[in-house]
Amino acid sequence: MRNIVENHVEEMLEFLRYDKSQWGNIWEKLKSKFSILGEIEKSLGTPNFDKLERRNFDKFLYDYRELVGKDSIAKRIRQRSEELDLKREDFITFLGVFPKSVDWIVVEENEKKVIFENLYSLWEKGELNKVSEAVFQSIVHFRKGELMGNFYNKEKIFEEINEFLAKKEKDKSFMKCICEILYEKVPYYDWVGFYMINDEGVLELGDFVGEPTEHVKIKIGEGICGQAADLKKTFIVQNVLKETNYLSCSPKVKSEIVVPIFKNKEVIGEIDIDSHYVSPFDEMDKKFLEGICSMVSDYLDK
Ligand code: SME
Repeated sequence: MRNIVENHVEEMLEFLRYDKSQWGNIWEKLKSKFSILGEIEKSLGTPNFDKLERRNFDKFLYDYRELVGKDSIAKRIRQRSEELDLKREDFITFLGVFPKSVDWIVVEENEKKVIFENLYSLWEKGELNKVSEAVFQSIVHFRKGELMGNFYNKEKIFEEINEFLAKKEKDKSFMKCICEILYEKVPYYDWVGFYMINDEGVLELGDFVGEPTEHVKIKIGEGICGQAADLKKTFIVQNVLKETNYLSCSPKVKSEIVVPIFKNKEVIGEIDIDSHYVSPFDEMDKKFLEGICSMVSDYLDK
């Protein structure tokens, strides 16, 4: 299999070997070497070298050498090779430097898509240590057809939500409030809702945010929701097209995570999250949502 990560960071920093007055000329030379830079300029504009400082690039280079190992980036991507459909070989990622605040942008080179990963922009935001995650995330968004974006740090988003919910008054709007904040703050949570087991022993839709669904009642064992309740465990489906026991709500939904809510080791309900992206969930989502469900269990206990 071909290389999915091309690293050109050090080559692009060649201008650091010259006096600052030469940087614009060196950039032009880089543009003839890497034609994608001209394409990126069409969207982001030409970098203004007069305003850039050498000491920032020096610091960037130092941190880059400390923090970035190419292998771990490729490894992170290949872990999800199947879900991300890598065998199509229809794109590559290009690690580079472009002094503008956009973390990734898709351009075309010889009829092939190139996801340009702007490590300088990540560094400016203090997120260079998250580069593997950022590259992975850009591919998830690229697969949905997005052409430009910025990295979001899931860990930080989850921490902020947890802090907010810990302080929030636990009144009767608490579960609706959870749906709202999750839907609002997590970019790839496109439907968030609770199903609770009713008197008939069936999962019944409670609070939710997102498009209305026809699946208001779901039997245990049926669909992803029913399976999670039946097996008493978190279910992650990274690509719903590959799941046979799945109840479709909308063609936009590409993946789903369902986490049971327990009381005395019995399932009393669950949180269900749909995403319009393929393969966006990981262990962090699982842990975070399991924490939310235990918060809900405590709340329902009162
Ligand atoms: N897809 C779910 C049904 C519920 S909707 O996602 C809101 C399932 O397969 O159980």
